[in-house]
Amino acid sequence: MTWRIIFTCLFVLTVPLHPLFGDEKDEFDDLYDVLMVRHALNGVAFGENEITPMIFKFSAFPFDDATYPRLRAALDGFKLGEIEKFSVEQRAMLQRQVWAIFDATTPSRFVTRRPHEKRRNAVRQQLADLIRSLALKKSEILSLPHTLRATVEAKKYPTRFDLDKPTSPFLPSELSEDSSAWMCFGRSGSPVTFHASESGWRSVFFQFIRLPNGRVATIDYIDDWKKDDVFPVGTQVALIEKAFLVSDEGEIVLSPMTVGVQLRAYRNVEQHIRDAGTATQCVAEFISRPWDYMRGDALMVAVRPTDHRLKVLMTGGKHDVLELVHDPKTSAVLRLKQCMNCHGGAGTNSLGDVVVPRGKLKTLQQRSQTEITEATMNAKRADDAWKLLRNAWNKGTR
Ligand code: HEC
Repeated sequence: MTWRIIFTCLFVLTVPLHPLFGDEKDEFDDLYDVLMVRHALNGVAFGENEITPMIFKFSAFPFDDATYPRLRAALDGFKLGEIEKFSVEQRAMLQRQVWAIFDATTPSRFVTRRPHEKRRNAVRQQLADLIRSLALKKSEILSLPHTLRATVEAKKYPTRFDLDKPTSPFLPSELSEDSSAWMCFGRSGSPVTFHASESGWRSVFFQFIRLPNGRVATIDYIDDWKKDDVFPVGTQVALIEKAFLVSDEGEIVLSPMTVGVQLRAYRNVEQHIRDAGTATQCVAEFISRPWDYMRGDALMVAVRPTDHRLKVLMTGGKHDVLELVHDPKTSAVLRLKQCMNCHGGAGTNSLGDVVVPRGKLKTLQQRSQTEITEATMNAKRADDAWKLLRNAWNKGTR
């Protein structure tokens, strides 16, 4: 009897946690599973609730021998005529993931000799048809839930960083307000970030800075930015990733889905992390989990200090960690420990634009979110993968 009660309680507790529990698994879940769940060589699953499919530049996935037949079957099983039965959140989320797979089918000027070219060519039209069928009207995209705003308003996380706990999550309350002391900035040349190009320009990334003395001090600092002019201790920076979607008219539209937020707050601006003997910055990261979002929960969650997130910037290299390593958890550094690999410099030398200058970095300046969005959309429109999608979109039969 007691066991039965315990079992029932456990069952009740786990049901809402698992995306596939409760309902019959349908063609949506089948396809989502194929695109998102990856297995390391030791069999452990990764990526189910990640913000994009775990595809690295040289990944065979999902065109590898094990996944490709499942991909074909899941695509064939997806009835395009019945798309209306899925919620707008489901359609938005699945379109984003299928878009990533579509882009992975396209030849890239950076990547030659990728495996399985024939398989990539064979599914391209079907993926485009699906992207088009899943597409929402622009007005529907704009009315999707705002993840960052909802998370800030929920006040689940401290709004201030804690100097004594450098990996403890913090989410400043003004971060989603336009009129706050957080100023959006970018390089003086193109404001399109390195992150945006690494993510195939399917997202826009906004960089923000906030000096401890508030709005006027922040504006003064950024309007007269010089690499030698160091901001004070207590300065905070943020990187916000917002998702693009493709509308039913085939246009790129900026959605209200913030899928990632990264934050750093300076405890020390004089020392390189290597010489500091202690953490120079507090770090935090929040992500929007697709399964939460599709279930109607728009809140983003904090990445914990013990979490591994395998999909990181430039992990591309020549390899796909999941195809190479037996146990990625023992070979990959914890997510929040990776930040200092790039941002470990002293003061302004820790800023991403200084670390990865991509051409000569003249200066940083205020940038509006609109101009960054436009520039990123233009970069996507010039991308070969986008041109192929447009062609396939027009050819498609629905
Ligand atoms: C592989 C290098 C790399 C790693 C690792 C990395 N970043 Fe960055 N980060 C960058 C680059 C480059 C930029 C500049 C924006 C761009 O061009 O994409 C940036 C920008 C930022 C910004 C905006 C302010 C600034 O410094 O320019 C924040 C905040 C940020 N990153 C936080 C983090 C956090 C938190 C982590 C760890 C979870 C992290 N980063 C890991 C490369 C990296």
